[in-house]
Order: sequence, then structure tokens, then C-alpha cells
Amino acid sequence: MPLPIGIHDLSFATGEFALPHTILAAHNGTEIGKYHVGIGQESMSIPAADEDIVTLAATAAAPVVARHGSERIRTVVLATESSIDQAKSAGVYVHSLLGLPSATRVVELKQACYGATAGLQFAIGLVQRDPAQQVLVIASDVSKYDLDSPGEATQGAAAVAMLVSADPGLVRIEDPSGLFTADVMDFWRPNYRTTALVDGKESIDAYLQAAEGAWKDYSEQDGHALEQFAAFCYHQPFTKMAHKAHRHLLNYCGHDTQGDDVTRAVGRTTAYNRAIGNSYTASVYLGLAALLDQADDLTGRRIGFLSYGSGSVAEFFGGTVVAGYQDRLRTEANIEAVSRRRPIDYAGYRELHEWALPDDGGDHATPRQTTGLFRLSGISGHKRLYQAC
Ligand code: CAA
Repeated sequence: MPLPIGIHDLSFATGEFALPHTILAAHNGTEIGKYHVGIGQESMSIPAADEDIVTLAATAAAPVVARHGSERIRTVVLATESSIDQAKSAGVYVHSLLGLPSATRVVELKQACYGATAGLQFAIGLVQRDPAQQVLVIASDVSKYDLDSPGEATQGAAAVAMLVSADPGLVRIEDPSGLFTADVMDFWRPNYRTTALVDGKESIDAYLQAAEGAWKDYSEQDGHALEQFAAFCYHQPFTKMAHKAHRHLLNYCGHDTQGDDVTRAVGRTTAYNRAIGNSYTASVYLGLAALLDQADDLTGRRIGFLSYGSGSVAEFFGGTVVAGYQDRLRTEANIEAVSRRRPIDYAGYRELHEWALPDDGGDHATPRQTTGLFRLSGISGHKRLYQAC
């Protein structure tokens, strides 16, 4: 019997502000049904000027460290595609803000929205080698597209922190994994750009092909049949994408997609993503948080995960929900993280979209905006300065 390893705890954080899609629609003359129904989004999280992937990550991880201590955490993996430095891992700043022991390895991972899943799988390998150790896997991203581009309505920001350990308290991650990689240019962000480039239609097609490829490999590795899963957590660049992807897999497997099977399989995974927007590598695990918080008892039930990162890499794997998981959920805090956001108007959103840290090497303080646990207080000599609030 293999050692059970998986997600022991999960906590998330999101940005200070929320832009309702009604405001974006009023600005660009879009019929609101396109946002609410067509892509399945209600609002998007907008980080304050003194928030970034580091402050989001530290805010997400702080409750995990407070609950479990840091004695067993010997590795921190921070996955992001909105990196703040080409050399230094954002995780090292987080390690410092959280006061983690110096005897820790910290590293940043990148493969678009897939990075956190690589982190989770690598963490399982480390725990297998030494079950006394725990790994803190953090997915943290700010999704930003050009103003007035089709991608604008799918922006968002969030971080998810997961503690990976033996005898996990929430979800036991299972073998096998189905894998898929293909060199495509559906979505990318060159180093000199702050906003992502995307071929919207091609990206949807690339996602579906990758989901199919990962599922095909999963089946060839003797994975379970679709019917053996109680629900599916898909990467959600916008929540409608989870519906599209599940319908695609059902069709691929020869199932009927006329009934409400798709909604039953993915409907309870979308609540947080619908309000937060695309959080890139965090989004599939926000789907898990929503599912665990909202579903009736899932004890012993199997969940399917489909992680997709443009460019592209996809992975399909299963996990079984463990007994007693409900006692370890953070449902109240999760709802609070979403509802505490302050609504922002279009002018305020636009100002933040255009806001950038000065790059002249001088001393610059950031405006004090966040009401969160940590803030980016400024930049000095090209060094970002962080503080606990
Ligand atoms: N009422 C209801 N539905 C409406 C509507 C209305 N009034 N008006 C339009 N719609 C529907 C459309 O029929 C369409 O539905 P289907 O997809 O089911 O056909 C949907 O709303 C969207 O309409 P459009 O396709 O016309 O929208 P668009 O041209 O503005 O593009 C988008 C949508 C491609 C998702 C764009 O927002 C985009 O480029 N987003 C960024 C890229 C992205 O998220 N890609 C996803 C896959 S890649 C990935 O997953 C990685 C990642 O995180 C980026």
C-alpha cells in the first residue's frame, strides 16, 4: 500500500479591489450577458498598488504556517507566470515575510498556468523520500491583459497556498498522471512586456487539445474512467472554460452531453473563480477550494484535476477526499477573502492598470492602499521593499 501523500491544508488570498463586469461592460458597450453567461464571470480582483505576487502569496500562506508551524517545512515552491524578478525567487521574499527557518530550500517554477501542478507533483516526490517533511506549494499570479483587448475581461489575481504532506488532511493525490506537452503560441508574455499576449480562439482550442491529450495518456496509464470521478477541477481562465473542457472530454469518451452532466461535474468548482477572475496557476486549486467548501460530503470520493498551462503543458490526475476533511476547511476565511474586496470604479481600475513601479533605481514609496497582512512598501536601488502591516 503506497504512503498516502497529498494536500494537507489549503488557504487562498486575493487582491484588495474588485471590478464588477457590469462596470467594464458599461465602459466598452458590451452586452452584460457575454460576461455573465458567455464567459461566466461576475467580477475580477485587482491588486492594490502596494500588492503583488509576493504579498498575495505570503497572505495565502500565513494561515497555513500559523496552523501547522514551520518545523517540518523544508521546501517552499512558488509557482507563478507573473514573476517580479528574472533571478531571485519570489518565494525567498515570502520565506522572509513568514519567518520560515533558514534550513529551507526555496525555488520558483514557471510553465504558464500549469506551474503549481508541477510544484505539487514535485512536492509529493520530496515527501515520498522523507515523509517527515512537508512542502509549502504556493501558486500566485496577477493576470493582466491590454486595456480594451478581448482578454481584459478575463483578468484577475489570487494566490493559493497548499501544504503537501504524508497522511494529508484534505485530498490524497493518486497515481497515475496523464501528461501532454505541445509547442504552441496560444498565450505568452515576453520579458519586456507587463501584459500577456494571446490568440484567444487558438488558446481555447489548444486548451481542449491538451486536455484531450492528457486524458488519453491518463487512460493509457490505466487511470480511472470518467464515471469514477465525483467532480472535476479544471484550470479556469474564465469559468465557462471548465464547462467547455468537460463537455469536450465527455464527447471524446463517447458520452452524451445533452443533460446537466457538465454542470453537475464542474458547477461547484466555479464560485471563487467567477468572482476573482483568472488567477493563472492558482485557478485550478481555487476550483478545489470552492468544491470542498460547497459540496455535500465528499469523503472517499474521487476528484479529477486538469491543469493547463499555455505554451503548452497539461496534466490530468485524480485525488481522493479524506475522512474528516470538513473539520480542516477554511470556508469562512475563503468567503471573507472574496467579500472583503473593495469595489473599484472604472477610473480607479484604469489608474491601477497603468501603475508601474519606477525603474530609475531611486527611492520610491508606494501609495498605502492594501488592508491586507503584507505590503510592498516601495522600491529603493532597484530592490523591492516589503513589510508586514
Ligand atoms: N449573452 C450570452 N453569451 C454571449 C453573449 C450574450 N449577450 N455575447 C456573446 N456571448 C458568448 C459567445 O457566444 C461566446 O460563447 P462560446 O465561447 O460558447 O461560443 C462567449 O460569449 C465569448 O464570446 P466571444 O468568443 O465573442 O468573446 P471574445 O472574442 O471577446 O473572446 C476570449 C473571448 C477568447 C475568452 C477572450 O476573453 C480572451 O482572449 N481571453 C484570454 C485568453 C483565454 O482565457 N483563453 C483560454 C484558454 S488559454 C488558458 O486557459 C491559459 C490562460 O489562463 C490564459
